[in-house]
Amino acid sequence: MLVYLNGTYVPKERATISVDDRGFIFGDGVYEVIRARDGQLFEAAAHFERLAAGLDALEIQGLARAELQTLETIARELLERNGLVQGNGESGGASEATIYLQVTRGAAPRTHAFPRVATTPTVYLAASPFTPAVALQERGGTAITLPDVRWARCNIKTINLVPNVLAKQRAVEAGATEAIFVRDGAITDGASTNVFAVFDGEVRTPPLSTYLLPGITRRVVLDLAAESGIPVREQPVLLEELARADELFLTGTTTDVQPVCELDGRRIGAGTPGPVTRRLQSALAGRLAGLARAVAS
Ligand SMILES: Cc1ncc(COP(=O)(O)O)c(C=O)c1O
Repeated sequence: MLVYLNGTYVPKERATISVDDRGFIFGDGVYEVIRARDGQLFEAAAHFERLAAGLDALEIQGLARAELQTLETIARELLERNGLVQGNGESGGASEATIYLQVTRGAAPRTHAFPRVATTPTVYLAASPFTPAVALQERGGTAITLPDVRWARCNIKTINLVPNVLAKQRAVEAGATEAIFVRDGAITDGASTNVFAVFDGEVRTPPLSTYLLPGITRRVVLDLAAESGIPVREQPVLLEELARADELFLTGTTTDVQPVCELDGRRIGAGTPGPVTRRLQSALAGRLAGLARAVAS
């Protein structure tokens, strides 16, 4: 597998960074995961916009806007060089892949404050084959809730994911597919997803704030709901309200729209994926299929 590190394409096993890298030492960086199908990036502009906002928020300088745009070209190049642009002839399916992209403040002797001498950001991109969790999307998963112990700037997609890592581990140990964070009685994010509930046919998701990640899939799903005539409301969702939710689902770049049929051991609605979730699942699948069709035509 070829990856891109600081200006060159190298085999992954030869890609090395300094032990002084502030990403390694402090988690001082941001990342993106972008979905690709048949060599096309899904919602590329939105991902690069969020990346730029994250770099601004962390005051990581040294990557000009123009360079940010070259990252998109590099991502496409990686898909090409790693043979991830064409569907597998045997199954006739599309080529599914993800791009992982990380930018850190760079390497410098360890000081908490920004290095006095400006560093060159470390830029890393990798492409990997991806298999969507189709069975889970079909039958739905389960989730647990946990106190949201993350910091108060969860809107920045930083590489500091320890609370998310621990939460996901608690979910695995509980036999659940996701952990949903709760802050002051209201749900915020999943460990690696955004959360939606359906009440009487209306889709509700927490409004954007510093307590949740502005998911790209979240935005797409809200747009798809509006286009499909499904009422949506961005309004806080209290944990106690979820007892009477008809449906619950998660969204994310590698999660798509995933139904949650049980929360903390209690059934949600009928305990099976609901009709609104199903409609949004197929609307998103259609949007992704459109990406592959755009390549073919
Ligand atoms: C905490 C959190 N919320 C939401 C998401 C979903 O965001 P996106 O749809 O951009 O993948 C992620 C994705 O990694 C995440 O880590």
